[in-house]
Parts: sequence; C-alpha cells; structure tokens
Amino acid sequence: MIKKGIILAGGKGTRMSPLTKAVNKQLLPLYDKPLIFYPLSILMLAGIRDILIIINKGQLNQFRKILPENNNLGINIQYKEQMNPNGLPEAFIIGEKFIGKNNVALILGDNFFYGQSLTKVLKKNTSFKKGAKTFLHPVKNAQQYGVATLNKNKKILKLDEKPKKPKSNLAVTGLYFFDNNVVNFSKNLKPSSRGELEIIDLLKIYLKNKKLTAEFIGRGGAWLDAGNVKDYYDASNFVSTIENRQGLKIACLEEISLQNKWINNRNIKNAISFYGNCEYSKYLKSLIN
Ligand code: G1P
Repeated sequence: MIKKGIILAGGKGTRMSPLTKAVNKQLLPLYDKPLIFYPLSILMLAGIRDILIIINKGQLNQFRKILPENNNLGINIQYKEQMNPNGLPEAFIIGEKFIGKNNVALILGDNFFYGQSLTKVLKKNTSFKKGAKTFLHPVKNAQQYGVATLNKNKKILKLDEKPKKPKSNLAVTGLYFFDNNVVNFSKNLKPSSRGELEIIDLLKIYLKNKKLTAEFIGRGGAWLDAGNVKDYYDASNFVSTIENRQGLKIACLEEISLQNKWINNRNIKNAISFYGNCEYSKYLKSLIN
C-alpha cells in the first residue's frame, strides 16, 4: 500500500504571471475552492493520509491558513519549502526524510482528475511493492506533455518529453506512483537541456529496468491541467458545470474523509466553523443532516 503522497505546489508560476507573482497558483480559486484541494482530494481518494506539500519559499503561512497541519480532515499534512524550482524529481530529494523507506505517490499541484472509475483505478494501483506507475490519458495537444508510445499489449515502448511530432496521443499525466528507489534515482539525475531534473528521465530508468507500468484514466474520465490561464478557466468552468448540475461537490475534502471513515460528524462541525458562513459550509452541513 502507498501510504505517503507528495503534492508539488512550488514552481516558477511564470505561465500565469501576473496572477501568480505574489501568490502560489495552488492558492488561487478553481471555481469554489483553492486549486490545492483538487490534487489533495486525489491522494485522499487513493487512501493516502500522510501528505507532504512542497511549496515556494515564503508561502507557508498562506497554505497553513487554508490547510492547517491540525486539520479536520483526518490526514497528516506537512510542508516543505522549495528554494529554487529545479524540476519535478526534486520533490523526492526534498521529501527524502518524509518518504523514509516507503513507496510514494507524487501529484503535480496543478493537475485535475475527474471520473466515475477514478477511485477504483487509484485504489487498484496503490498495492504494489516494486516499480513505478504512470497514468496516461489521451489529449489533442500531446506535444505539450510527456508522451508514451505503447505496443499492442499496452506496454510502454518509449517515452518522450514534449516531442515536436508525438507518436501517440497518450500524455503522461502529473500523477505517479514510485517505489522507494525513486529517492536514489532522483539524486543521480542530471539536469536536462532546459536546466531542470525531468520526471520523464526518472520514468525512463524504470522503463529500462522493465519496472514501469502504464495505467489508464479511460475516455470517460477527465484530466485537465491548470497550467496556463486558459486551461485554468476551462477547468474552473468544468467544476462549475458539474457541481451546479448535480448539487454535489468535486474535491470536498471533508466529504472524502467522512466516506473513508477518517473523521466523524464532530469534525464536520469543526470544519464548518473553520470555514465560516459560506456555500462550502452549507454543503458540509448537508453531509451530516
Ligand atoms: C510536466 C512533465 C510532463 C507531464 C506534465 C503533466 O510538464 O514534465 O511530462 O506530461 O507535467 O502536467 P511541465 O508542467 O513541467 O511542462
């Protein structure tokens, strides 16, 4: 079982500047909740309760206001600051102590996943001992992402980071499960031509060792990324459309915890007083009435 999860919520934030000049992107609203709620909800749906959030230097107080370490979520949150964004695998170097001897999940702080069978896919994949798992999803603009080429048995043959002419439409999403070797592998990576450690290089090590498996968020699921302003608002509209139609919330953290039996009605009441008089609290109230 994967018990530890890391959310990488640092980064330069240049693609959404000036919105992100003073504030970490993950604190901005994606419709009715801060963006950070969405990747956190995915780890929680996977059953992960021990979470490290890696943030930019100077943002700790802001994050603690939204997600205090002593929260009503039945999960343990720790924070670490990233001094300079040197690439995604740095998460495993910064998180070395947190990871200890465990396997670990990594989710990028601006990735959004949604879908009927998502929890099933996540849960099915948490109970591995060795190797790594990458979650793939079809996209129209594959050249903007890591891209996987598969054989007919759905085994990965090749991985390319932002290829000019992608050989497939399967993007490497920002959710990864790794065994404990990832810490040492990350330490030995060399920066790419853009001067950063690359997650695709980590995946390639596992691929070479025949230890990488592809998992699929099928076409009934959605993977959006809030990487730039347009995608950000598209994701926000997606949440608004679904929530207002169904009357159910996406990424209501307390709801997930309640369903996982990590918290009880008393925690929900505490959460309501924490958030104050707002729509989110009204929704929480409806969960216990
Ligand atoms: C990163 C990864 C890329 C992956 C993407 C998912 O890209 O390098 O392989 O497909 O996240 O969001 P970046 O956001 O650094 O451009």
